Amino acid sequence: MRVIGLMSGTSYDAIDAAAADLSLVGDSLVLEPLGLVSEPYDDVLREALGAALPPGTTSMAEVCRLDTRVGQAFAAAAVRADRELCDGRAELVASHGQTVYHWAEEGKVFGTLQLGQPAWIAEATGLPVVADFRPRDIAAGGQGAPLVSLVDLLWLRGRPGTPVALNIGGIANLTAPDGTAFDTGPGCALIDAAARGFSGGRLAYDVDGALAGRGGVHEPLLMRLLEEPYYALPAPKTTGKELFHLGHLRDALTGFGTLPAEDVVATLTALTARTVADAVCAAGATEVIASGGGTRNPVLMAMVGQCLPGVALRTSDELGLPAAAKEAYAFAVLGFLTAHGLPGTVPSATGARHARVLGSITPGREGLRLPSPAGGRPERLVLG
Ligand SMILES: Nc1ncnc2c1ncn2[C@@H]1O[C@H](COP(=O)(O)OP(=O)(O)O)[C@@H](O)[C@H]1O
Ligand SMILES: [Mg+2]
Repeated sequence: MRVIGLMSGTSYDAIDAAAADLSLVGDSLVLEPLGLVSEPYDDVLREALGAALPPGTTSMAEVCRLDTRVGQAFAAAAVRADRELCDGRAELVASHGQTVYHWAEEGKVFGTLQLGQPAWIAEATGLPVVADFRPRDIAAGGQGAPLVSLVDLLWLRGRPGTPVALNIGGIANLTAPDGTAFDTGPGCALIDAAARGFSGGRLAYDVDGALAGRGGVHEPLLMRLLEEPYYALPAPKTTGKELFHLGHLRDALTGFGTLPAEDVVATLTALTARTVADAVCAAGATEVIASGGGTRNPVLMAMVGQCLPGVALRTSDELGLPAAAKEAYAFAVLGFLTAHGLPGTVPSATGARHARVLGSITPGREGLRLPSPAGGRPERLVLG
């Protein structure tokens, strides 16, 4: 089945559309990558999202407008992926949507909201769309995240040693081979917020780690940031920009006077590296397979490496899945599983009471024709 996976993470930088041919062969799920197109949000929509996301406030009218506009933007990315990557022969779209709120309190998740009305995607592509993946896991008692954990576990099964999958997006998350998975804390979220704040909006992120590279880590600020209770919570746990936004940094800066922008960004980069590395060590990892936009920040990756002597640090590219595309491929897999009546979660990873078939399905032009349910769950993911 030819599937397009659509993903935009908490960084809301771009809609990533990855296409893959997926099939079940014996107990393996075979994924043949067809490529990635990345469609940046236009400035108007990006600003509207930024204003509505925490710590901003919004209205139901604006939520409706965003749901439509994000849905249309996702639809445009899907149409482009079908044309450029699939020869117009895609059969299914799996859309994560844009997370605008993740309702977590004291380690428990009560709800999550992803915008990007799938009807626009179905209408534009003519294809059935699986969307709203996260709420079912929450209704089953889970965190609704990290949902890539199932794909990570299938993919890393059988690899020697103790490999962990690490995705550094706006938030960073980790999957360990014992089936635990959780958000470690900020990935690029605070670095982005600081870069944007210090540059008056000119920089959306610390391009190539340039600011951090010129600065020095301010140890007292780092210590204060590490006091955030989230880091000490036991897994399963998930977080979002409801916690890790500019206000979080401003609070931590109180009493330090004016610090150079470079030092603040270097310190935030060290914070991500430290919290990621602590989680990697706690998992007893011998190898880290990293993905996400954070892997493109060389200062961050060098700091992660320094915190993890003796642990092999690679990117998912080395294993055949481009770091920028991994999450979008993972959602293509989750959509494929749903279409085949197969569960998309691992209870130990999300904390749910049981694994569930995820998502809501919007029929395509041909009405709803689903493949026959698959016999059993795949045991591993193999790249074709
Ligand atoms: N060249 C780069 N230098 C530094 N950081 C980068 C670079 N490219 C991407 N990033 C970081 O990656 C983030 C986007 O990563 P992504 O995996 O798309 O996250 P999300 O899943 O949250 O959208 C950007 O906000 C930025 O912080
Ligand atoms: Mg992104």
